[in-house]
Amino acid sequence: MNHKNMNQPAATGQKRSRNDAGNKATVVLGAQWGDEGKGKVVDLLATDADVVCRCQGGNNAGHTVVVDGKEYDFHLLPSGIINSKSISLIGNGVVIHLPGLFEEGDKNEKKGLKGWEKRLIVSDRAHIVFDFHQVVDGLQETERQAQEGKNIGTTKKGIGPAYSSKASRTGLRVCDLLGDFKDFSMKFKNLVHQFQSMYPALTVDEYAERLRPMVRDGVYYMYEALHGSPKKILVEGANAALLDIDFGTYPFVTSSNCTVGGACTGLGIPPLNIGDVFGVSKAYTTRVGIGAVGELLQTRGHEVGVTTGRKRRCGWLDLVIVRYAHMINGFTAIALTKLDILDVLDEIKVGVAYKLNGKRIPHFPANMDVLHKVEVEYETFPGWKTDTSAARKWNDLPAKAQNYIRFIENHIGVPIKWVGVGKSRECMIQMF
Ligand code: GDP
Ligand code: IMO
Ligand code: MG
Repeated sequence: MNHKNMNQPAATGQKRSRNDAGNKATVVLGAQWGDEGKGKVVDLLATDADVVCRCQGGNNAGHTVVVDGKEYDFHLLPSGIINSKSISLIGNGVVIHLPGLFEEGDKNEKKGLKGWEKRLIVSDRAHIVFDFHQVVDGLQETERQAQEGKNIGTTKKGIGPAYSSKASRTGLRVCDLLGDFKDFSMKFKNLVHQFQSMYPALTVDEYAERLRPMVRDGVYYMYEALHGSPKKILVEGANAALLDIDFGTYPFVTSSNCTVGGACTGLGIPPLNIGDVFGVSKAYTTRVGIGAVGELLQTRGHEVGVTTGRKRRCGWLDLVIVRYAHMINGFTAIALTKLDILDVLDEIKVGVAYKLNGKRIPHFPANMDVLHKVEVEYETFPGWKTDTSAARKWNDLPAKAQNYIRFIENHIGVPIKWVGVGKSRECMIQMF
């Protein structure tokens, strides 16, 4: 290796100053517990993007996009794949279940998504989720239930076990699959050996040839997209801040970094090349899984998991968590979705602070036992009792809805750039 050239960009051999950072990627992230409407926001921005990327998670994500009355759901494919002019990239930070990937593409092709395979690039460094990872995910959940009387409520897509393999340094990557197959089989055997419960037949080889044309060195691809001919790069976060392995409500979290750092590590984007960071938050709060259901919001909001079909628990908007997500992500703007779901309510509450033993606390507690003890302080707003689904601009919204939005904006300290009032692309009010 020529050490003299180590700080120089590989593509050109030219020295670059720190001020000449190149392109900046726009990042869209969930600010709550997932299902905030990231897919819809990405779809909106993707019309103007050259590359739309997933950086973390796997097919535990379920992103809905409604275009011309047709509903698409994406789990591993970036939602931007709908835009026939953009390239979609699955980055190294994603864990890929290959049968799931192709099933998803083929299913959407039947709905009218043309030529997706030619527009998809898969990083050779991405880790593979095997069927046995999914089986182990299910077994671990059963074990947790038996041992502790509760489980995490995972999607059973093998996400935790696949990231465990990655962290244990026994995981297999896309580049391994496309290399020497004998070598791959041997590594696979070593991997399964670690998971003593199941030894299913090796079936992923059938996907290797279909996958081969899509695979690239993701780091170099991103480097070129940032520093070559200018490309608009959009990163689609999956899952959300409160599900982040480091910052979420551990252990009831997923196994990746769903906050802004995940965009850097999961795609090879230097922090200097991160531009706008858009946080997506619903006008209320939901969480997939077990527990009491805020019946009205659940029914009106069709709050059912896209990946699992489970009812989502619903409650008032909790601004403490959105502020916490902002502390970590540094949002440059917020998309507030599903305002229309609140249209029928007489009054609307918003959680503004947490109290512990009668005293306000400034931080979001790390410990779940402490979190269960906090008392939420609410502000109450009069409902607008008006259908907002046809509103297309700020002035179309009732004054009481405008008040609600302005309060949220001021409380988080981040401008709200979009307000969602329905499922489809056009049901999004752009504020500036
Ligand atoms: P994601 O995982 O963050 O992409 O969100 P999901 O797709 O899992 O869940 C969001 C659900 O809300 C989907 O069914 C969307 O079609 C729907 N949705 C998104 N924005 C709005 C909105 O502003 N109003 C209404 N009524 N539905 C919306
Ligand atoms: P999108 O991208 C909502 C939740 C699961 C479970 C926990 C761990 O659609 O917003 P996992 O299978 O990841 O090990 O499950 O995380 N979860 C989500 N909840 N939306 C998601 O993704 C989620 N991804 C994971 O329900 O509680
Ligand atoms: Mg979802």
